[in-house]
Amino acid sequence: MLRERRKADRSAKTRPEPESLDEDDRNARTHFTLLDVLRMVGGLVILGLLTGKFMTGSVTWDYWTKSSPVGDLTIPSAYWSGQELPLAFSLEQLHEFDGSRPKTPVLLAIQGQVFDVSRKSGLYGPRGPYHRLAATDCSRAFSYRLWSMQGLREPCSSDLNGLSDSARQRVAEWTEFFQTRYPCVGYLTGSEP
Ligand code: HEM
Repeated sequence: MLRERRKADRSAKTRPEPESLDEDDRNARTHFTLLDVLRMVGGLVILGLLTGKFMTGSVTWDYWTKSSPVGDLTIPSAYWSGQELPLAFSLEQLHEFDGSRPKTPVLLAIQGQVFDVSRKSGLYGPRGPYHRLAATDCSRAFSYRLWSMQGLREPCSSDLNGLSDSARQRVAEWTEFFQTRYPCVGYLTGSEP
């Protein structure tokens, strides 16, 4: 009994008295002020803008381009006027359209179809996160699930041999994506329509 009382006394001595905490201390532990909330929201907004700039080349995540009518997106730009589309490209010719030459479009091929992706040169141009998909045909890269990132790591290849049905399906879906969002300006020789 006596021993228990002593133990209780000892632990009461080591615990600080609530009164010994000053007012600021107690507020800091228990309350978020409006300013804290605003700071957090501000931080998240800035993070979102920077991520958009990095991923899409635009702080607005290319919202304005994305929301334009889909029909317009597939009309070839003035660069192609006077040329009879679709054009035939060899792989070597396609390599020239990587966005490093001024006033030259950025092209990307998938399943032998060549698209003008200059509208998103922030993504596919020399400093873009998807530059390695440009000026060539990396169809196989599109067969992976997006979160695997494998598609962007392995060497570029257009060969779909050995892929499962679902992997081929993903490539087909990406091809459809490009068909509805970018002008198709040609095809790779050997992949004639
Ligand atoms: C964790 C992995 C990934 C994240 C977080 C991510 C994120 C994004 C985001 C935010 C966009 C939107 C760009 C826009 O519409 O403006 C985008 C577009 C795109 N992603 Fe990824 N991505 C990832 C992996 C991949 C992989 C592995 C590929 C492989 C092929 C890929 C191919 C693409 C392509 C081609 C576009 C461009 C679409 C367009 O032309 O508008 N992504 N990605």
